[in-house]
Amino acid sequence: MMTRGDDVAEGKGYGKCILFNEHFVVYDIPSIVSAIGDYTLATVERTDSGGVRLIDDRPATPGYKEGKLEHQKDSLQRILDHMEIDPDENIKITLGGTLYCASGVGASAASCTAIARALNQFFDMGLDDDQINEVAYEGEKGYHGTPSGVDNAASTYGGLIWFVRGDEDTFEPVDMKKPVEIVMGNTGKVANTKAAVAGVKERKEKYPERYEEIFQDARQLAHDAREALEANDIQKVGDLMDVNHSLLQDIEVSDEDLDMLVETARSAGALGAKMTGGGLGGYMVALTPGEELQEKVAKAIEDKGFRVLRTKIGV
Ligand code: PMV
Repeated sequence: MMTRGDDVAEGKGYGKCILFNEHFVVYDIPSIVSAIGDYTLATVERTDSGGVRLIDDRPATPGYKEGKLEHQKDSLQRILDHMEIDPDENIKITLGGTLYCASGVGASAASCTAIARALNQFFDMGLDDDQINEVAYEGEKGYHGTPSGVDNAASTYGGLIWFVRGDEDTFEPVDMKKPVEIVMGNTGKVANTKAAVAGVKERKEKYPERYEEIFQDARQLAHDAREALEANDIQKVGDLMDVNHSLLQDIEVSDEDLDMLVETARSAGALGAKMTGGGLGGYMVALTPGEELQEKVAKAIEDKGFRVLRTKIGV
């Protein structure tokens, strides 16, 4: 059991944007994910009494934190158990940072990584990034049940990552020539990733042949997308994002608001657009190279009354 430590420590976890193959990744199909600049910051302080307390001061979509409270408790317990931290330690963990929490932006993974890093520093445990990633993965289980690990990988390692789940997960950096602007549009609807993942499983079992075809298309698309990203063929990347959105519609994880924001972004000139993350609400992402196009697409979404994140991939 860990008992010693500093008086205060901090840790960061980055938000993420899945560019290709959320959901498919659960079934060992390659995915491509990018960390984004916005992050969650966890601060750990010693207190006099009260055991382990969590104060959540992150900016968030209304209802997001309330909706995730039970998952968050479960997640924290898993993190403490995995790190072998005594639940009777008197510490306060405060979450803050710049990441506006909503479904689809990796908020749960960002918080797990931030907490793991802050506890690691606080208790002077000397964990490396791979071990932090393992702790964050344990924490993610509180939110997702059986997470693929794609979110915590982006949150821990940063950059643009080719991720394949397997007996041994594969993480490879995708070498993009230069960062590209994106807009992430938030439907404001808090989504339940666990339910979305369970829905796909159910339909996949019911319609095995149809789903097999869609899944094979998703597999090929991941390879094409990696090639386009590495060749800096941004138009092709955008086209493939559009195709990926159709595949996600086919497995019924998009919804009306996501489809509407995707259409809005395309009409405003985005090179491609798709839902991102668990779906059934949450965020979509539009590829908008250059600040001018980014601003145009962001405004078009804001004019419809929705919040956006202006950020970049490949940083
Ligand atoms: O909803 P998010 O942003 O946490 O993304 C979930 C991604 C899924 O592929 C749907 C699930 C997973 O564990 O990879």
